[in-house]
Amino acid sequence: MTVEPDANKPQSTRDIVWESGRVTRAMRANKLQMRGATVWFTGLSGSGKSTIAIELEKQLVDEGIAAYRLDGDNLRHGLCRDLGFSEADRAVNIARAGHAASLLADAGIVVLASLVSPLRHDRDAVRALHAALRIPFIEVHVSVPLEVAEQRDPKGLYRKARAGEILDFTGIHQVYEEPIAPELFLETDRTSIAQCVEQVRARVRAIA
Ligand code: ADX
Repeated sequence: MTVEPDANKPQSTRDIVWESGRVTRAMRANKLQMRGATVWFTGLSGSGKSTIAIELEKQLVDEGIAAYRLDGDNLRHGLCRDLGFSEADRAVNIARAGHAASLLADAGIVVLASLVSPLRHDRDAVRALHAALRIPFIEVHVSVPLEVAEQRDPKGLYRKARAGEILDFTGIHQVYEEPIAPELFLETDRTSIAQCVEQVRARVRAIA
């Protein structure tokens, strides 16, 4: 792939040319028998995104499928440690995670990305990136009523948010925009985790 100089690009990338290697995605997939994809779990904190991703990762790896989780909380310990929870920082966080996901998926890995990713345009940008690269992208809305997430409160963050100890908390101070047409819609207050995992697994099996 050749990337032409583009006046709209930031100065940092304007004079940088894409260096193609000698291995195409198709060659890699054939030789290594790995077909990458990104599964993007979005939903409120406490909705069950990470729980589903953790179980699915175990099942896929047991099956011999290279799966790898990119968890919002974990990324914020490293790759995204400089970012907070303002709208602007979340946009960068999600874009970075989306790029990382696309790279891993390009390498043949089934990426299980679980980020709150509350805003539609941030998620859509990640979808568009994958579409441009022709990498399969499965958006999974892990849905739960706010009251249920708040009742679960596995990390005690809703309590802190209500007490004013955390600002910008999704669902309390900031909006969560529900996906309009996700590939999968899971309701973790009505469906067991095992059944949710199975639904995502079926989707992954169809493409990876
Ligand atoms: S995102 O909005 O930028 O996609 P991300 O998934 O990386 O968020 O991080 C969300 C995690 O950070 C939540 O699971 C929660 O544990 C923690 N967290 C801490 N502060 C906040 C906040 N203000 N809003 C949402 N999550 C928060």
